[in-house]
Amino acid sequence: MMKARASAPGKVILFGEHFVVYDKPAIVSAIGLRAYVEAMKSDRGIILDGWSGENPAVKASAYVIDQLGYSGGLNLRIRSSIPQSVGLGSSASVSVASAAATCLLLRGELDLELIRRAAHLGESLVHYRPSGIDTTIATYGGGGIYTRSEGFRGMSLNLDEILIINTGKARRTGDLVRRVKEFRDAHGEEFEKILEDAEGIIWEAVDALKARDLELIGRLMLRNQELLRRVGVSSKEIEEAIELCMRSGALGAKLTGAGGGGCVIAVAEDEKIPQLMEALGRRFEVMRCELMAEGVREDSFPDPS
Ligand code: PMV
Repeated sequence: MMKARASAPGKVILFGEHFVVYDKPAIVSAIGLRAYVEAMKSDRGIILDGWSGENPAVKASAYVIDQLGYSGGLNLRIRSSIPQSVGLGSSASVSVASAAATCLLLRGELDLELIRRAAHLGESLVHYRPSGIDTTIATYGGGGIYTRSEGFRGMSLNLDEILIINTGKARRTGDLVRRVKEFRDAHGEEFEKILEDAEGIIWEAVDALKARDLELIGRLMLRNQELLRRVGVSSKEIEEAIELCMRSGALGAKLTGAGGGGCVIAVAEDEKIPQLMEALGRRFEVMRCELMAEGVREDSFPDPS
């Protein structure tokens, strides 16, 4: 094979970001936005979209090459519909899709565990203590509960879609993970209590999702947001988006991903969605996004549009 192509989904964390770094559970879903990578054999080195520097996707592909004992080089091309640096797992999806296209090219089939490991190694370049949630969900897809020490347990989230509000403010995940660590260093006891509350919210949320109790899911999102605010990862844009969601008929809303800007997610009864989208759309980019999307897969490479 001379050329192989793969795609991987972005993600939203419904509950538990940041606390998942400290081995608490988080609820996560793959979303219907994807990154696409095409890999082609070359003489040597790895060139990504004409550039040969170090980056997570290159590192992920290099790991696969090494594990599969290939001695040549690669050209990688990327196309992605996932907005970058706003908490939707764009970088992890590109790393997973790169590792997958490389694996397909050299081996003719996907090895999901190899791909996940390769992408996690790639992400360690740019993140600070990554929990592995982004690369795991981009690999396996669907939705479920993730913990650092126990990995991923899939479950049906009983939600077809979610509203994603992009505040448009880009930020670096590593900076926010460090900010939470500083909070923990300064307020150890309070942080332990916050971790306990965060875990309680997860188990309540699992039951609420099973029962498809939107009202309770909304309330739990607001409680989770309060904990994230306390550890210092909310921002004025996030608060503004949440306030607007709640004023326009949402049942609950919270930041998703690292915070400090990035995206907010919201749930609402179906009939309220159009009015919410209209109100939010005047100020932010709003998407109605599919949940429980498929994980990494062999795919075609989309034409530029
Ligand atoms: O902002 P993102 O998409 O990189 O999400 C990061 C999630 C965190 O829990 C904040 C960090 C992690 O490694 O789990």
